[in-house]
Amino acid sequence: MKVVVAGASGGIGQPLSLLMKACPLVDHLSLYDVVNTPGVTADLSHISSVAKIEGFLPKDDGMKKAFTGADMVVIPAGIPRKPGMTRDDLFKINAGIVRDLIKGVAEFCPEAYVLVISNPVNSTVPIAAEVLKGAGVFNPKKLFGVTTLDVVRAETFVQEYTGEKDPSKTVIPVIGGHSGETIVPLWSQAKPAVKIPEDKLDALTHRVQFGGDEVVKAKDGAGSATLSMAYAGFRFAEKVIKAVKGESGIVEPTFVYLPGVEGGDEIAKETGCEFFSVPVELGPEGAKKAHNIVSSANDYEKKLLKACYDGLGGNISKGIEFVKNPP
Ligand code: NAI
Repeated sequence: MKVVVAGASGGIGQPLSLLMKACPLVDHLSLYDVVNTPGVTADLSHISSVAKIEGFLPKDDGMKKAFTGADMVVIPAGIPRKPGMTRDDLFKINAGIVRDLIKGVAEFCPEAYVLVISNPVNSTVPIAAEVLKGAGVFNPKKLFGVTTLDVVRAETFVQEYTGEKDPSKTVIPVIGGHSGETIVPLWSQAKPAVKIPEDKLDALTHRVQFGGDEVVKAKDGAGSATLSMAYAGFRFAEKVIKAVKGESGIVEPTFVYLPGVEGGDEIAKETGCEFFSVPVELGPEGAKKAHNIVSSANDYEKKLLKACYDGLGGNISKGIEFVKNPP
């Protein structure tokens, strides 16, 4: 398993690369960034784990060398938010960064599983799909928007109502997109079931939808979530790797192109969105089956979903448009 981290020198990239280097399922780790990869690579190379590590900068065909032969490319490249910014404000810069990295994927490792972390995920994943389509190598089963941080936050924040010692033992499907109101935690589908007092529901939901703002505010201009995101990104990547290696029954919410995944057509019809995050069963081919839990939402959650559809549709079109009619 050769894994590339593209944006490896950044706030997310460094701890994510550390977790990848320590993971016994990774044989070869390839770090790519426009700055500082020699230092990050030298540092991580002293860790006595199985993964062989190499680092590249754009010069001397660096992207080609980094990406060739990759089985998985994880992309946390691009600028993060500062206080007062929405994820959509990042579009101007990050759209082009993601487009160019995906062009590299299409050229040098078209068979790789691609995990997009760069924001706005609601638009960068459609951008990635369009670029791959344009190059004739789009496999919807292998393109994932990483929304795991929303799931991790929901598990953590609901703990006060579950009484569980280990918050990760409560499964909360968080669906929709990855920004503000497009993030929809389906508390009614929690496993095991959890009873949230009705007067606490709005605050808890809001905290999951806007939890990223807490970190942006606390960092006070120094960026957004990096350590919790590296944890979440690694958790998702590890699940994909385990499924690829044959472990069955792994299900995790992720933002996918629904018409390309089994079970996705029905969800696309119901939501009116071609890209959407739902719990997806993972297998050796990538996304094996999208689980339709949209229809099981209760009335409270249906209202949240309505707001999600309204916002998400525009984000998706903006991404597609960026590739079809470049500015
Ligand atoms: P950062 O600024 O610390 O790191 C970004 C890295 O990307 C830098 O090292 C930079 O040199 C690199 N980079 C820029 N252009 C590049 C290119 N063309 N090719 C390769 N590397 C390039 O930012 P941070 O905090 O690591 O965040 C990265 C992205 O992740 C942001 O867009 C942020 O909004 C997003 N994010 C996503 C989350 C999610 O849940 N999906 C959660 C938190 C952040």
